[in-house]
Amino acid sequence: MSVTAVVPGSFDPITLGHLDVVRRVAAHLDRVVVAVLENPRKQGLFTVDERLEIIRAEVADLANVEVDRFAGLLVDYCTSRGIGLIVKGVRAASDVDYEMPMAHMNRQMAGVETLFIPASPEHAHVSSSLVKEIASWGGPLDGSVSAAVEAALRSRFPARA
Ligand code: PNS
Repeated sequence: MSVTAVVPGSFDPITLGHLDVVRRVAAHLDRVVVAVLENPRKQGLFTVDERLEIIRAEVADLANVEVDRFAGLLVDYCTSRGIGLIVKGVRAASDVDYEMPMAHMNRQMAGVETLFIPASPEHAHVSSSLVKEIASWGGPLDGSVSAAVEAALRSRFPARA
């Protein structure tokens, strides 16, 4: 049996924590689809096209990882692609509290299961929102994002005088 999982998110932008999850999951499953949410209610720092391009470059060495976009309910996307599994990285108990109702709801709505994988300790404090805030003030991003993502962030926030 071939097992495919969706790793969904906003990925605005993708962090080393996200990438660590994708790599670890891809090492155990046949196929991983990194799915970027197109959210008409929330404008990101990067467009969805930009996020897709960034992520594709980051996972180019992983033959079993695909990058895609989705709009609307995640379970509708999963069902349309015949995928029955979502994988989410969790950094702390607060992530579990936030994710658990969605996991139950996704199973209730469509029978789509969610597996949680613990974030690596070195990434447990990293988030896209913190990364954007630090970048906006010209702060250091080592250990939080890749060199390519850092360059993309720096180009969005020109050096402060
Ligand atoms: O990176 P994020 O923003 O924490 O990812 C959240 C995401 C995109 C996984 C979640 O918001 C989602 O699944 N949104 C799609 C809409 C949906 O299915 N909502 C109902 C969840 S029960």
